[in-house]
Amino acid sequence: MRVNYQEKWNRRHGEAQDLGSPAQVLLRNLHLLPKSGRALDLACGRGANALLLAEQGLETHAWDFSSVALQCLETFATQRGLEVQVENRDVLASPPEPQSFDVILVSFFLERKLAPYLVKALRPGGRIFYQTFVRDVYLERGPSTPEWRLEKNELLELFRDLDIHYYREDGQAVSVPTEISDLALLVASRREGACH
Ligand SMILES: C[S@@+](CC[C@H](N)C(=O)[O-])C[C@H]1O[C@@H](n2cnc3c(N)ncnc32)[C@H](O)[C@@H]1O
Repeated sequence: MRVNYQEKWNRRHGEAQDLGSPAQVLLRNLHLLPKSGRALDLACGRGANALLLAEQGLETHAWDFSSVALQCLETFATQRGLEVQVENRDVLASPPEPQSFDVILVSFFLERKLAPYLVKALRPGGRIFYQTFVRDVYLERGPSTPEWRLEKNELLELFRDLDIHYYREDGQAVSVPTEISDLALLVASRREGACH
């Protein structure tokens, strides 16, 4: 039976009580954001990261294919007096256009075939902030499907054409429970003048 993921996500976002928390990869690396520019929260969910990007003064876009999540994000943005341009968009069918963003944030969303599109979507000097679950788990949280978890060093491999500024992988070897247990976090940028 084919799973309708869009319906599944609408249901999950509808059941959620709050906005959720911003991604650790962003919270720990706010100093690596540019002072201005165009930012994308890709597969944004209810948009805690988009709101944080907008708060930092970036022109923020937030894409997801869950209308429920986007409605929720719009409500929170209005409440906080922030501007976020939301778009109901299937990011696999319509990835971001080449050289269209200075910042791309991806949190808890793993579609490996999108990686080359994300690299190309960065403007020269643009940065990607990425975090999601690894397979080498300590706390055993996150998706049960191994395909939706990263192999060791996999983010480094997926974004090998970029310059790495920050990388951290907290799997079993770290074995201290923290908010980044079972996660890999990466910040990397496209070289000025690079033509991927
Ligand atoms: C685990 S949630 C993460 C949400 C948010 N990034 C966060 O960190 O809280 C995954 C999100 O991806 C969205 N999603 C899944 N497949 C998608 C697709 N093909 N196009 C757009 N959004 C998608 C879901 O609707 C859901 O909001």
